[in-house]
Amino acid sequence: MVRVSYEQKPYRHALMEAYGARVVPSPSTETQAGRAILEQHPKSTGSLGIAISEAVEVALGDPESHYALGSVLNHVMLHQTVVGLEAMEQLAMADDYPDVIVGCTGGGSNFAGIAFPFLGEKLRGGRDVQIVAVEPAACPSLTRGIFAYDFGDTAHMTPLVKMHTLGSTFVPEGIHAGGLRYHGMSPMVSHTAKLGLIEPRAEAQLGCFAAGVTFARAEGILPAPEANHAVKAAIDEAIKCREAGQSKAILFNLCGHGHFDMQAYLDYHAGKLHDTEYSAEEVAMALAGLPVVQG
Ligand SMILES: Cc1ncc(COP(=O)(O)O)c(C=O)c1O
Repeated sequence: MVRVSYEQKPYRHALMEAYGARVVPSPSTETQAGRAILEQHPKSTGSLGIAISEAVEVALGDPESHYALGSVLNHVMLHQTVVGLEAMEQLAMADDYPDVIVGCTGGGSNFAGIAFPFLGEKLRGGRDVQIVAVEPAACPSLTRGIFAYDFGDTAHMTPLVKMHTLGSTFVPEGIHAGGLRYHGMSPMVSHTAKLGLIEPRAEAQLGCFAAGVTFARAEGILPAPEANHAVKAAIDEAIKCREAGQSKAILFNLCGHGHFDMQAYLDYHAGKLHDTEYSAEEVAMALAGLPVVQG
């Protein structure tokens, strides 16, 4: 488990431990990849890219283990479209159709899940729909990364994929939305961004937490810090409608509850969270290590 999440979300590993798992913060001393990172950065917060390297290494060394990706790759995007297909059915029951669809983007799966069925409908000549992909300003792969071949993990054990990336060695700030701290973005989501079919947007964490708290007080559901990014954009789109005197159906993916993220809400209410923006130099530095691919 990525170290920053291990520390920020102790009840997540407590639950896994209750079910019998041994949970190790990454980077760990248990793999070559982890040890190499710790040698250079003993206080590393970890990242999804580093945790993937460690997990792949462990799986490769154990004939009983297999590694299954939870996001990014095409089959995961396809699998998650059950979310959008279900939303279509539910909207049909309400005799409605979305004008705007919003999802947060870490590796891209919950976003693709809700958006791709509607995008498919549009590309087949169906109704137009505005689709907003919201990522953290602290890990802006779609809005500030480049579309290039890169590794899916930090130790370069995965195949290369063409995707929006900040560079596989990019270690984002330890924001509470740990699920969005991935240097890359699903190749399919990246491709739709390149074609101009979706609107990528970056949001900083304080505004997202404020939106999450507003949503919790209105709806009684406390969103995960990741989901707060979608909540923020959904509220912003609703405010735009109110100001323009328009009525639109806004569909967004509440991709997780925040019950294991109460420390994040405590920190937010205690004023301990801050926003992060990277300078152009920092982004350029992380991208300098991209692999050279011959066409
Ligand atoms: C609640 C939640 N939402 C979103 C994500 C981001 O992943 P993806 O972009 O693949 O949906 C994660 C990842 O762990 C998550 O835990």
